[in-house]
Amino acid sequence: MKEQLEKLKNQIEEFEIKHNEHVELFRLKFLAKKGDLNDLFEQFKTVPVEMKKELGALLNQVKQKAQQKWEEAQLEHIQNKKQKSQGNTDFTLPAENTFGGSRHPLSIIENEVIEIFKKLGFIYAEGPEIEDDWHNFSALNFPPNHPARDMQDTFFISEDIALRTHTSSVQVRLMENQKPPIRAIMPGRVYRNEAISARANCFFHQIEGIYIDEKVSFADLKQTLFYFIQELFGQDVNVRFRPSYFPFTEPSAEMDISCLLCKGKGCNVCKHTSWLEILGCGMIDPNVLKASGIDPEKYSGFAFGMGIERIAMLKYEVKDLRTYFTNDTRFISQFKGQ
Ligand code: PHE
Repeated sequence: MKEQLEKLKNQIEEFEIKHNEHVELFRLKFLAKKGDLNDLFEQFKTVPVEMKKELGALLNQVKQKAQQKWEEAQLEHIQNKKQKSQGNTDFTLPAENTFGGSRHPLSIIENEVIEIFKKLGFIYAEGPEIEDDWHNFSALNFPPNHPARDMQDTFFISEDIALRTHTSSVQVRLMENQKPPIRAIMPGRVYRNEAISARANCFFHQIEGIYIDEKVSFADLKQTLFYFIQELFGQDVNVRFRPSYFPFTEPSAEMDISCLLCKGKGCNVCKHTSWLEILGCGMIDPNVLKASGIDPEKYSGFAFGMGIERIAMLKYEVKDLRTYFTNDTRFISQFKGQ
């Protein structure tokens, strides 16, 4: 075996690596699983114990030599090849087609909603996602012990600061800084401390809107939202209003639309009621106007708010909310729109 090792050592030294292909040939002959070195390692297992020390050392030496030569050759030849190919690049060739990207389905819905309200003269407003108690709760007429302030719903940062739970906080900021007439929509991300499931997430997106002027009435609210729904879902859609409660509106209502999927026949999505809940709305409570410095004797207004994910789920019939947040391009690139 000692002789075989000496012979192999010589072969390794003499093997000429002149170009790229020889690098691979070298590896196959000496270093691969079925190469010469591995054969010797197999034989080594049967060597008598007293010879193991000497032969083992020699075997390792030869292996290291082969390994080193191969690594050096690889560096030399593969780098050369790269440099050469760089030199040969034809810059006049047309560019390869690359994936152009697509808008996220939630952005598509958001932009559609913004466009519809823009036509009605609503402006766009934004506000901070980290809010103080005043803008998220107090100015919106939330009594001090209202359950929505509870730790279960709200991510508190400190006693007075939280991640906003709705974009109504932007309404307050707007009312504080502008004089009526105010007509605005405010889209944005909101946070609620909920367990993540197919139907709920710890954050989601909302679009809320307000309209404040002299003599704004519930009839204006109904007509505005009816127009909006027909623009978004088509002329065949019906709406209904159900009495509801929000601290910041009085009276308050929830608006349903006729089920888009079964068209009134009854299905799983509408839970066989043929109606789908779509948004909350109401006449802005006089206390809220007062808190923001608007005279409730002179002005009135309506407000509404909806979840973008909910509209997307209805429109695209994608029932698992989580798919909107995994950023799997196979999913999000299916949706077309601006
Ligand atoms: N802020 C309410 C929510 O997050 C929605 C809403 C807005 C309801 C305006 C009425 C008026 O659920």
